[in-house]
Formats: sequence, structure tokens, C-alpha cells
Amino acid sequence: MAATRLVLLVALVATSAWELPPSLRMATAAQAVEQAAAAVAIHALRPLVGSAGDLGRRGGVSCDSWRLAVEAHNKRDWRTVPADCEGYVGHYMLGGHYRRDSRVVVDEAIAYAEGLKLGGGGKEVWVFDIDETSLSNLPYYATHGFGTKPYNATSFNEYVVEGSAPALPETQRLFRKLIALGIKPVFLTGRTEDQRAITVANLRRQGYSGWDKLLLKPVGFKATAIAYKSGERRKLQDAGYVIVGNIGDQWSDILGAPEGARTFKLPDPMYYIG
Ligand SMILES: *[C@@H]1O[C@H](CO)[C@@H](O)[C@H](O)[C@H]1NC(C)=O
Ligand SMILES: [Mg+2]
Repeated sequence: MAATRLVLLVALVATSAWELPPSLRMATAAQAVEQAAAAVAIHALRPLVGSAGDLGRRGGVSCDSWRLAVEAHNKRDWRTVPADCEGYVGHYMLGGHYRRDSRVVVDEAIAYAEGLKLGGGGKEVWVFDIDETSLSNLPYYATHGFGTKPYNATSFNEYVVEGSAPALPETQRLFRKLIALGIKPVFLTGRTEDQRAITVANLRRQGYSGWDKLLLKPVGFKATAIAYKSGERRKLQDAGYVIVGNIGDQWSDILGAPEGARTFKLPDPMYYIG
């Protein structure tokens, strides 16, 4: 089969190169044979070598392609990580890749913040999401399939009220830098008002201090995350604050006017909040 295709390719290249002088024609045909042989070899090797993304597939989509589609917001409203991608997401989250990707985001955010000319009135704020942005629920997700299982509000809230979620170190670096620059952090979270005390305790335990506001969702408030969060940002703006930056792990953290002068998306391949 491969040999037949090779002959066909050589024939095609040879006929398309008919305008070239004979010596060049020969070289082109010889090169084509070489390239085709290399291409066949690479193609044949690929399934044997594999890659992280090829370890898990569903519907022919590799897990790294799936993750890219999630981060780029091409994939939306998904409920669970594909079952075959549990290992892939687990390795991504725990193996250093997640931290490295987060570091790039925060490096950009800090470079941007350092370049800002502040008005001096102390009105500049930076909006921080909490879950998977300021605090990590990875201890929970690591024991619940890294997002491959449907969201369970009961067990997740049991974890939240422990108040033991670790800080995300890259985000914390940004948080401290902003305070040093005179930009006030404002937490804006989908966590509800009844979780205020445990959230404050968790944040403090993890070394966060000096935030200007902690905005939580009223209990029973029914709205999409985009409507709720953009509404809260609107209130901030109407109260005279200038939202110079906004960082979150969900697209719903950073979509919906007013978004903030610049938005930053942290990685999160484990869940989607619409
Ligand atoms: C959700 O979590 C609770 C508490 O751990 C558990 O009792 C319940 O069975 C879980 N529900 C499902 C559907 O797994
Ligand atoms: Mg979040």
C-alpha cells in the first residue's frame, strides 16, 4: 500500500515538474522519494511513540486537543471531562504543567500592572475570582476523578466548609504584587454569602490579606455566572472604582461588560461554569 502511494506521489511530482530542466527534475523527484519515505516513517512511528494527548481519546479527539478547545472557549457548556481523559487531566494538574501555564498568565498580568499609570486616588481595583483562581480545590478534585464525574454540590460543599483549600501560588504572587503597586484586590466569587466566614478563614489561613472587598452571591440568587459577575463589576464601576484587571479560571469570570480594562484567564480543564 505504502509503496503504491509512493510511486503515485513520485509520478505526480515528476509530471508537475515537467517545466524544470532535466537535472533539476531528477533532483526534485529524488527529493520527493526521500521526503515521502520520511513521511511514511514518521506516520508509521507516531502511534507507537504516542503523546500525552493520545493516551486518552473520545470520538477521535485527543485529550490535549480537548483541553485546548476548552481553554479557547471553543468547547462550551460541557458537564464532565471525558472519562478517558482522567489520567491526562490528573497529570496536567499535578505534574507541573498547570503551574507552568499559570505562571505565564501571572507573569503577563504583573508586566501589565507594572506598566499602568495610576490616578493616585486609590480607586484602581483588580477583580479576583476565588475557586481555581485564588484557592485551589485540587485536593477535592484529585479524589473525585479530576472532573470526570458530574458535579456533586453536597460533597463539594462539604469540602469547602473545611476551609482547607490551598492557595494558588502564582495567583498569590500577583495578589501581593498588586497591593505593593497600590492596586486593591477585590474578590468576586460564585460562593454564596453563607460561606463568607469559612471563605475568609480559608483565605487568611493561606496567607491572603489586604483585600478591599469580598463579594459573595446572595443565597438563592438565580442568575447565570456572567450576569451575576458582570452585574457586580458594574456596581463597582458605578461606585467610582476603576477595574484595571480581572482574573479568573472560567470564561464566565471575564465575559460580560464591564469586564475590566484587561482580563486574564487561568487554566482549568476540570469544570465549566456557564
Ligand atoms: C454526593 O455526595 C454525597 C456526600 O458525599 C454522597 O452521599 C452522595 O451519594 C453523592 N451523590 C452522588 C450522585 O454521587
Ligand atoms: Mg473559579
